[in-house]
Amino acid sequence: MNALDLKSFLNKGSLHWIETDGFLEFFTHSQLKNLLTIWHFLLKRHGFITIREPAGNNLFESMIDEFRVVMGKWWLGVKIYIHTVTDLQKLFADVGFKYVMHPTAVPTFRRFTMIKKSVLNN
Ligand SMILES: C[S@@+](CC[C@H](N)C(=O)[O-])C[C@H]1O[C@@H](n2cnc3c(N)ncnc32)[C@H](O)[C@@H]1O
Repeated sequence: MNALDLKSFLNKGSLHWIETDGFLEFFTHSQLKNLLTIWHFLLKRHGFITIREPAGNNLFESMIDEFRVVMGKWWLGVKIYIHTVTDLQKLFADVGFKYVMHPTAVPTFRRFTMIKKSVLNN
């Protein structure tokens, strides 16, 4: 099942909670915008998302993420993409999420908890 096809069998506003780890890195920037838009569509009004994702915030962390991309390809044979903290924050805001971000014990992995921006307006 492709996560970009979720709307083919789930209804608008049908999910309370979306939870995943290391998932966004499997999507290009434009695919990621599409995925987040789908999640926004599927979440209930007071639904929320909890994720932990690699997202570098400086040159050193970007080098760690570059290394992860090379290891992913070489070791696991998977293609992953780098999204920086700035990239993710902009995408989340553009799609309509309000979020908080916290560090984790894993280098460059950050924890994001998101709700729909629209909830805060009413
Ligand atoms: C790092 S694992 C994390 C899985 C973990 N169970 C979770 O969701 O927290 C990411 C998984 O997403 C899968 N994946 C990548 N692109 C996908 C897509 N377009 N639709 C569904 N799964 C996908 C990968 O094959 C990989 O198994």
